[in-house]
Amino acid sequence: MNKGAALTEHTDRAERRATGTDGAAAVRLEAASLAFGDRTLWRDLDLEVAPGEFVAVLGPNGSGKTSLMRVLLGRLALSSGHAHIAGAPVRAGNHDIGYVPQQKTIDAGVQLRGVDLVGLGVDGHRWGLGLRGRAERKRKVAAAIADVGAEAFAHHALESLSGGEQQRLRVAQALVGDPKVLLCDEPLLSLDLANQRLVSELIEQRRRAHGTAVLFVTHEINPILPLVDRVLYLVDGRFRIGPPDEVMTSEVLSELYGTEVDVLRVRGRLVVVGTGDTMDALGAAGAQHCHADTDPNRVRA
Ligand SMILES: Nc1ncnc2c1ncn2[C@@H]1O[C@H](COP(=O)(O)OP(=O)(O)OP(=O)(O)O)[C@@H](O)[C@H]1O
Ligand SMILES: [Mg+2]
Repeated sequence: MNKGAALTEHTDRAERRATGTDGAAAVRLEAASLAFGDRTLWRDLDLEVAPGEFVAVLGPNGSGKTSLMRVLLGRLALSSGHAHIAGAPVRAGNHDIGYVPQQKTIDAGVQLRGVDLVGLGVDGHRWGLGLRGRAERKRKVAAAIADVGAEAFAHHALESLSGGEQQRLRVAQALVGDPKVLLCDEPLLSLDLANQRLVSELIEQRRRAHGTAVLFVTHEINPILPLVDRVLYLVDGRFRIGPPDEVMTSEVLSELYGTEVDVLRVRGRLVVVGTGDTMDALGAAGAQHCHADTDPNRVRA
């Protein structure tokens, strides 16, 4: 990247962080620890996410990524420490948060349509229950559906839609309430490259236009690498936070995993490679970083 481009990007990020707030961090974790019984998922986690900042949350299966989302949603209490959203302690039903949950297949037989799903994301109190409130709600839902380009299938039963179509509607549901913080738990899972790009772009547009902070859980950083300001990498109770260039290195990941890991840069992509036992230690995260089926640039360990 040349100097001019670096400067533009820097200014752009500074502006993004200044947008849409009253000065409070979008997300703040202070000395936050989470344990189940004698198993500690993470300990002494300090993290401040600025408005408009994009944080990728990485780590192997079971490292506590979804649990972190649940803490911020007020559905799971920290074992110690504090968690705030937009300056207020976390609480259940917080309309400052939009949430794209880790994918579950839609139960067959549930006759929910796309418009119904998106409607569930609307804060009913905001527009009241009268005729005007209902009209405003309908307008919001239609606008959110249009934003994700889902008009053509929004009135179909969800179970009849493809994974990519369902995921676009989930993003619409998360955005329809005009959130300050967007929590996305593996939103690109099982999407093809075109839909991965589409869903990432929808989230990125939201962040740029409204200064919405994004926490994005993923096993595969490459599709979102250009968007990521910082990475939070969780492994077995340990973690590192920093820009991708600082965290996604052989040295840092080897230390986190406690075993030898190589991070290669291949044509602008990151490939995390281990051999033998190392791949076992990397678990799904390692397997996904160098995903064989979807990554034409993969390097075999
Ligand atoms: N309420 C709970 N009680 C006890 N253990 C729990 C509870 N919730 C989660 N866990 C455990 O905590 C660990 C972390 O779970 P979590 O779902 O946060 O992992 P994750 O990083 O999202 O993994 P994945 O990549 O597979 O989605 C898991 O071992 C899980 O079984
Ligand atoms: Mg999870």
